[in-house]
This record gives sequence, structure tokens and C-alpha cells, in this order.
Amino acid sequence: MAYDNILWTVEDGVAVLTLNRPKALNALDSKTLGELDAILQAEAAAPGVRALVLTGAGDKAFVAGADIAEMSRMSPQQAQAFAAFGQRVFARLEALPVPTLAAVNGYALGGGSELALACDLVYASERARFGQPEVNLGLVPSWGGTQRLARRVGPMRALEIVLTGEMYEAPRARELGLCLDVLPADRLLAHAVAKARVIASRGPLAVAAAKRALRAGADHGLAQGLALEAEAFGLIFATQDMREGTAAFLEKRPARFQGK
Ligand code: CAA
Repeated sequence: MAYDNILWTVEDGVAVLTLNRPKALNALDSKTLGELDAILQAEAAAPGVRALVLTGAGDKAFVAGADIAEMSRMSPQQAQAFAAFGQRVFARLEALPVPTLAAVNGYALGGGSELALACDLVYASERARFGQPEVNLGLVPSWGGTQRLARRVGPMRALEIVLTGEMYEAPRARELGLCLDVLPADRLLAHAVAKARVIASRGPLAVAAAKRALRAGADHGLAQGLALEAEAFGLIFATQDMREGTAAFLEKRPARFQGK
């Protein structure tokens, strides 16, 4: 299926999703958000996809936020529905069984920062800028910025980021835990894809189970998280991949994972 504002490619199990509205710095309007939702449901869940890299088109922005022109015309009811829709799409992204890697190639502001926060791993280029500038517009974050951000950087730092609306350059963003590594712009995508390829080469059921346990555990106390981990460990013993992975180690050969 063709999409107007998103590019989608898959190679060797690694999908690359490119938000493609460079004239608006890849801002997410309802249409683009709808396309993202459709891709997450249809394409990202396909069996051949083992890891997903998200990035932005052009050399300036990952995503410069929700589309301000569209939002400026919304009624309170429409705005609430827009917030809820974005939250659903980002929750779907977060819940994908395959790992998601953001390659933040420029501005990740507002909804763009929130999109990165919903990904599992975040890599940034030297020219990346993170921030929640909603208060500059008289707005509040609405796609998880008041929630996932506090869980990522701690409540007081999240308050500073949200209440000042200031931008954070890539090295500072890394110090704060908003991204893992900072790369020269021309190496960023290759770096993210290389990490995705490593993950794609591992047992896909084990990768999905580990992601599920880590994600669920972050929202629960230690005892419940450990119970989830033990359950995941037991379930994985019902898979052929687990038999193959352990047999391959003992036979000193590479494993051939089938996702079964
Ligand atoms: N929505 C719509 N259009 C946007 C946009 C956005 N979020 N961000 C940039 N654009 C458009 C600009 O209007 C401009 O369009 P024209 O060429 O037609 O005028 C084009 O992209 C290029 O932008 P600039 O000329 O502003 O580029 P710049 O280099 O001077 O500045 C920038 C770059 C600092 C990122 C600046 O564009 C900016 O501040 N953008 C808005 C960022 C923002 O406030 N994001 C949060 C939105 S609210 C939100 O996301 C709520 C939520 O939680 C979901």
C-alpha cells in the first residue's frame, strides 16, 4: 500500500519508516498520524519485520511536533480527540512485539520528542535537538510528554523541560537519557540500522518476550516484574527457537531461528 507522508522499506528483516513531510519539518498532522497508525497495524506486524527504525526525511528534522497549523483551527473537543488519537498510535508503537529504534536526525520537538519517547532505543545525530516547546505556544504536551518523559528523565527534570519549553542539544540529551548515542549526521541511520540488524539476527520470540517483560516491568513493582520475567522464561521454553538456540551453542554452530 502507498502512503503520501510516510516512506516504508524492509530489507533483511529491518524496516525503515521515514516520516516524510520535509516542508513542514515532518510535523504530524491527522493524515500522517493516520498513515502511521495504518502502517503499524498492517506492515509493522508482518512476519518479515524483526526490527523497526523510525526517522525523518531531510537533514533538518526528525519530527517538529504535531502540526501547529492544523491544531490552531481545532475546537476543544477536536483537540481532545487529536490528543487521544496520537496517544493510541504511540501506545500501539510502544506495544509492537518488534523492537523500535528512533534515528533522531534533527529537531525532535513536542510530538516528535514524544514519538522518540515511545520507541525502545533512541539514537541521535549531532544536530538533533530535543524539547517539549508546547508552553511556548500556550499549549501542553499531549502525546505522552507529561508521562513518558517523567519516567525517562525523572519528574523534576521533566518539569524543567516541559515548563521552560527549552531545546536540548544532542550531547545534553544523551546525559539526560533522552538518547543513547550521538553520531555524526551521515552515520546516524547506518548506526541505527546496524543495531536493528543485530537485534533482527537474534531469536525473534525471545526478543519479543524480553521486550514485553522489560516494558511491562517498568510500569510495575519489582515483585510483579520478576513474576512477569519468570513467566516469559517459561513460555520461551515452549518454542523451537529456544531448542535451536541452545542446541546450536552446544554444537558450536550459528543458530537458525525460525520465529517458532
Ligand atoms: N507544525 C506545522 N508546521 C511546522 C511545524 C509544526 N510543528 N514546525 C515547523 N513547521 C513548518 C514551518 O511553519 C515552516 O513552514 P513554511 O516554510 O511554510 O513557513 C517550515 O516548517 C520550516 O520551519 P521554520 O521556517 O520555522 O524553520 P526554522 O529552521 O526557522 O525553525 C524550528 C525550526 C525551531 C523547529 C521551528 O520550525 C519550530 O519552532 N517549530 C515548531 C516546533 C513546536 O513548537 N513543536 C511542538 C508542536 S505542539 C505539539 O507537538 C503538541 C503535542 O504534544 C502533540
